[in-house]
Amino acid sequence: MSLDHATPLIEADRIQARVRELATEFATDHQGEEWLLVGALKGCIHFLSDFSRALTLEHTIDFMQVSSYGTEKKSSGIVRILKDLDTNIEGRNVLLIEDIVDTGATLAHLREFLGSRKPAQLCVVALLSKDSARQVQVPVEYVGFSIDDRFVVGYGLDYGERFRNLPYIAALS
Ligand code: IMP
Ligand code: MG
Repeated sequence: MSLDHATPLIEADRIQARVRELATEFATDHQGEEWLLVGALKGCIHFLSDFSRALTLEHTIDFMQVSSYGTEKKSSGIVRILKDLDTNIEGRNVLLIEDIVDTGATLAHLREFLGSRKPAQLCVVALLSKDSARQVQVPVEYVGFSIDDRFVVGYGLDYGERFRNLPYIAALS
């Protein structure tokens, strides 16, 4: 698979502008609060990095990594924790940073996992959402872009670990 089979979908400038908007919206909704940003590795890397730098609220950062079994393009909904948090989140405000919500299975599992540790507040910001692909209904408080049900790469998102480095988002055919 090469980028010959990719169609640019969201250009870098639009991503940057939208991420700044999301950070401003979140800060406005949560004035005066302190938050822990939890990045879901590895897809969150660029999004978390840009969102964090645009966020004017006091915050700290931690990471989790989950793997969902399945093919390279479709997750199975069975989720395994590869890396747990370093932080105790009981009583903390936790904002989960996700690259993309597809079927919703991964996010549903993560919400349950984090929620069981009794955070004061739990919110999710996802850069992308494939609304028409949803199989598990799960709340996503902040969404960057709603996209069609196509497989996308770039800005953290991979196909077989490749293309995470692209500053824009492209759809693979
Ligand atoms: P879900 O459990 O079906 O919602 O899948 C969520 C996870 O699958 C995301 O965190 C991504 O790692 C991966 N994923 C889903 N759709 C795409 C895509 O279009 N490109 C790259 N990864 C994707
Ligand atoms: Mg992936």
